[in-house]
Amino acid sequence: MSKTFLLDGRPVPFEDGQSILQAARAAGQFIPSLCWHKDFPAHGSCKLCIVKAAGRHVSACATPAREGWEVESNTPEMNNERRALLQMLFVEGNHFCPSCEKSGHCQLQALAYEYEMLTPRFRHFYPERPVDASHPDMLLDFNRCIFCELCVRASRDVDGKSVFALTGRGIAKHLTVNAESGRLADTDFAATDLAARICPVGVILPKGRGFAVPIGARPYDTGTIRDTAQED
Ligand code: FES
Repeated sequence: MSKTFLLDGRPVPFEDGQSILQAARAAGQFIPSLCWHKDFPAHGSCKLCIVKAAGRHVSACATPAREGWEVESNTPEMNNERRALLQMLFVEGNHFCPSCEKSGHCQLQALAYEYEMLTPRFRHFYPERPVDASHPDMLLDFNRCIFCELCVRASRDVDGKSVFALTGRGIAKHLTVNAESGRLADTDFAATDLAARICPVGVILPKGRGFAVPIGARPYDTGTIRDTAQED
């Protein structure tokens, strides 16, 4: 008999060591995420996966499932918190969705639709973040970074190149390129790297292929992020 917990009243089976998020996704139940990826250890930075388990707010990606737990996720309380987290992410960077090549493919934008974020609510920080177009094949737009570190982890742990890193604190925190010049062109980054296609937002993009999918046919035009969330 497998162990189970209840997620919004529905039983979810799990194996020892699985997180609440992993078990939920494997069972076809949606808990949102931005910094989690099925091929990497939990990062626990975005907090979009926040749930209430045993009366406490926890990150579902970093909390092991426990037998008999009653977990609340799709409730007004949790969804209000997620909306506030999204609003903070939107004002922390510079997100100009209508002109972004990732629009319609972007997980941040899709979650904002999912949680009905209608206003930014907080004052925009408007951080100064340059664009790096030095690489022949790839463009970096740091304005859109949400600090999930998926590119950092993919480049270091899979590609074996450590092209990216986060640096600075607070509002000065930013993604950087590990080259003395700070330019992507001065690294061995390649368009075939996992890091080149793992960004959940629009920081790392191929050149010469923007807006290739017409509006109406993009992934989040034809289905919500609930429909397309990755399973473990
Ligand atoms: Fe759990 Fe980001 S997905 S903290």
